[in-house]
Amino acid sequence: MSEYCFPPRFLWGISMSAFQYEMGASKESVDPNSDWYVWLHDPFNVVNGRVSGDVPENGPGYWDLFRTDHDWAKWIGLNAWRINPDWSRIFPRSTEEVKVDVHRDEGIIDIDITERDLEKLDKLANADAVKHYEEIFRDIKEKGMKLIVNLYHWPLPLWIHDPIVARDSFLREGALGWYEERSVVEFAKYVAYVAWKFGGLADMWSTMNEPNVVWMLGYNNLIFPPGVICPEASLRVAINMIEAHARAYDQIKRFTGSDYVGIIYAVTPSEPLTDSEEDRRASEISDYRSTLWYFEAIINGILDTSFGDMFEGEKITRKDLKDKADWIGVNYYSRSVVTSFKEPYFYRVVPNYGFACSPRSKSSDNRPTSDFGWELYPEGIRKAINLVKVYGKPLMITENGVADSRDYIRPWQIPTHLAQVYKAIREDGANVMGYLHWSLIDNLEWAAGFRQRFGLIYVDMETKRRYPRPSAFIYREIVRNNCIPEYLEEYARFPNILV
Ligand code: BGC
Repeated sequence: MSEYCFPPRFLWGISMSAFQYEMGASKESVDPNSDWYVWLHDPFNVVNGRVSGDVPENGPGYWDLFRTDHDWAKWIGLNAWRINPDWSRIFPRSTEEVKVDVHRDEGIIDIDITERDLEKLDKLANADAVKHYEEIFRDIKEKGMKLIVNLYHWPLPLWIHDPIVARDSFLREGALGWYEERSVVEFAKYVAYVAWKFGGLADMWSTMNEPNVVWMLGYNNLIFPPGVICPEASLRVAINMIEAHARAYDQIKRFTGSDYVGIIYAVTPSEPLTDSEEDRRASEISDYRSTLWYFEAIINGILDTSFGDMFEGEKITRKDLKDKADWIGVNYYSRSVVTSFKEPYFYRVVPNYGFACSPRSKSSDNRPTSDFGWELYPEGIRKAINLVKVYGKPLMITENGVADSRDYIRPWQIPTHLAQVYKAIREDGANVMGYLHWSLIDNLEWAAGFRQRFGLIYVDMETKRRYPRPSAFIYREIVRNNCIPEYLEEYARFPNILV
């Protein structure tokens, strides 16, 4: 008997995003109307090494080859597929001419979008893109998989965000994306429209993927659009994205009545470097700022504008933000190890643990690291689950995987992490509905390009042919058994050979 068996009706799936997969197999698949498209083509970014020089037009071509990829999912035996439409494909041009009623108090507390508004939006939408997404979604359903529709996975239409002007003017000119409040209103229109159009097809909804990565990497780093370093802007973007999530949640509820409208979040649990009181406190602040701060707002309706005493601000009670997630998606890749640091930061991340390691080496804890230099730390997925479990919502692992082009550590990565998910369910009582691996196939890893390979299935980007890696067979065995079968249990422990 296998030790690690998952609950009946557990969802086994994969996650994907539009921008990282769609282009590559035809001219028609190219969508040049998003900030990310422009960002990756920008010569200044390429010359300065802020992006890899790889472009989405050379990608795996899901827009044309979606049926093939859905067949691969069936070959594995999957019963769930997470996907998003891209806003820039649905509305390549501005939707601002469709006027809607916006109610304000401490911020935007409600947006009235009527059927008439939706009909107007329908005239502005790109009908070909809408039809194409419908074909994709139907094929997923026809192949017997639950369809999890996420609304936003990072690219913004250019009319909402021109990242080059935003970068070069240091957020003074041009379309400034999430930095501007108008994005909250336009996002709600786009979301309402998609909910209205595809309401009958989706089994579950999520408003956004990893808003925290957008405000962290876009405004505290140079590699994500708009690539400015400005903590105050980062906080403003974070607050706008909280509001945008809440107003998007309202629209999906209104137009679909779904009981499963949630959020997908990058949960990186932290650990103190030492057992000292200062380090333990540092770790608490890190967990608060990177995860709990957000959920305090969207579940408990408490918006802390001081971001854990980093800025002047206070905890504001906002009823309009409260209870805005029916489920929480946890994306987990690694941990962070922190130590105490001067005010107002109170902590700093310690190198050679978590995301701060060298590629293909080992961490200070003797754990293998990925091609990206991320430490494989399976215990962290259990901690991530427990960190958000306190909010009492059903959970799902919505991303977990590893950049490993040689498929050298992935055969261990999957069972070791799943064994920890199993423990969270059995020993900690967590309600985890499913596990979605990142990724089914190789794709464009944002600023890092095609070098970072997350696929269970290798993609030859020249010919677009797909070849399963050994770990695809391992995932398949687990999925088909709904257990880590006994003969694979050795894979649930990292052997010394990897470190
Ligand atoms: C994102 C994916 C990305 C993956 C690996 C997540 O942060 O949602 O788009 O490819 O991590 O970096």
